[in-house]
Amino acid sequence: MSELRTHRLVLRQWRESDLAPWAAMNADPVVREYFPEVLTREQSDASVARFRADLDGRGWGWWAVEVAATGEFVGFTGLDPVEDGMPFTGVEAGWRLARPAWGHGYATEAARAAVDFAFEELGLAEVLAVTTATNLRSRAVMRRLGMTRDPADDFDDPDVPEGPLRRGVVYRLPAQDRRPVER
Ligand SMILES: CC(C)(COP(=O)(O)OP(=O)(O)OC[C@H]1O[C@@H](n2cnc3c(N)ncnc32)[C@H](O)[C@@H]1OP(=O)(O)O)[C@@H](O)C(=O)NCCC(=O)NCCS
Repeated sequence: MSELRTHRLVLRQWRESDLAPWAAMNADPVVREYFPEVLTREQSDASVARFRADLDGRGWGWWAVEVAATGEFVGFTGLDPVEDGMPFTGVEAGWRLARPAWGHGYATEAARAAVDFAFEELGLAEVLAVTTATNLRSRAVMRRLGMTRDPADDFDDPDVPEGPLRRGVVYRLPAQDRRPVER
């Protein structure tokens, strides 16, 4: 599988030692503010099993993110095909970091590497990013990546119960608009 490196981060395969900090962040109501619920330890561990299998099987997916200088696991960033049932198709980029890792530019830095991978290694013509309309921090990452939103793409997420989290926004980055990561 592909391991990606940036100035400060390593995007790598998941390790056993990531399971506890990953579960802790998934149980944090602030990290999960824009999701319908927090995750149990079992749900969190099961997600890692899927991520590992995807990374092993196709070489890309939701990578574990580590701070290179300290070896500290801080969350995930990566790429995944848009789930069936959404009103759009393609490959989406995504990110989720533990709270102490917010405010350092890590999500944008990791996502640039993932997006570069999508264009250079996978040859995609476009990368998407999707979030609930009120998740302004995530939308800021999308904008920093050079992604843009067309309000005509806004949608009601069929996987989210009726309520304020249901309205979603879609950001798109065509290959020709990308800003490559500085290495
Ligand atoms: C979404 C999420 C990853 C964004 O994290 P973030 O830290 O705001 O985003 P970045 O890593 O790009 O960091 C940008 C911030 O770091 C600051 N920063 C500090 N040092 C920096 C540096 N060396 N380089 C770049 N930015 C730096 C920026 O100024 C910016 O600060 P601001 O928020 O005050 O404007 C985070 O809020 C999160 O994990 N949320 C919960 C999960 C979630 O909602 N995921 C998305 C689902 S769609």
